[in-house]
Amino acid sequence: MKRISTLSIAIGTSFALMSAAGYAQDSADLAALAASGKKLATNNCAVCHTFGKGEPNGQGPNLFGIVGRPMAAQPGFKYSAGMQAAASGKVWDEKLLDAWLSDTQTVAPGNAMTYFEGDDARRRKIIAYLSTLH
Ligand code: HEC
Repeated sequence: MKRISTLSIAIGTSFALMSAAGYAQDSADLAALAASGKKLATNNCAVCHTFGKGEPNGQGPNLFGIVGRPMAAQPGFKYSAGMQAAASGKVWDEKLLDAWLSDTQTVAPGNAMTYFEGDDARRRKIIAYLSTLH
């Protein structure tokens, strides 16, 4: 009995170490994703959007803090009727952003953003970057 419990403690400890290492790996991966996402966002979104805290809206709304923000809720930005109609009760998370960037019209029919990103890997990078804006 004693041997079994020592063994299970040993196993438990090594699982804990493994998952700590896994976590460090995940956050390193996430940081790398976000860094390349920042470049993509600068090249593809910054013509219409700003990303810094308190920066003015452009043709599109400022995106600081977008993950966790309700849809169409940026003060001072005049959203289209389509965007406002779709917004009720929706909050931006990774999944909704992925759907939005894949095809904005399925998320908010009649909205005014004329951009989409068809590449899964590029969307993941952009969304990883957006998640850091807090
Ligand atoms: C040609 C200009 C343009 C480009 C390029 C563009 N957007 Fe937009 N975006 C808009 C406009 C305009 C809106 C508001 C749409 C409306 O009111 O119908 C918007 C809205 C959004 C929203 C919703 C914000 C909110 O407050 O609910 C998100 C998120 C978003 N854009 C992300 C992006 C990302 C990420 C990129 C780059 C990958 C991008 N956009 C590229 C013009 C653009």
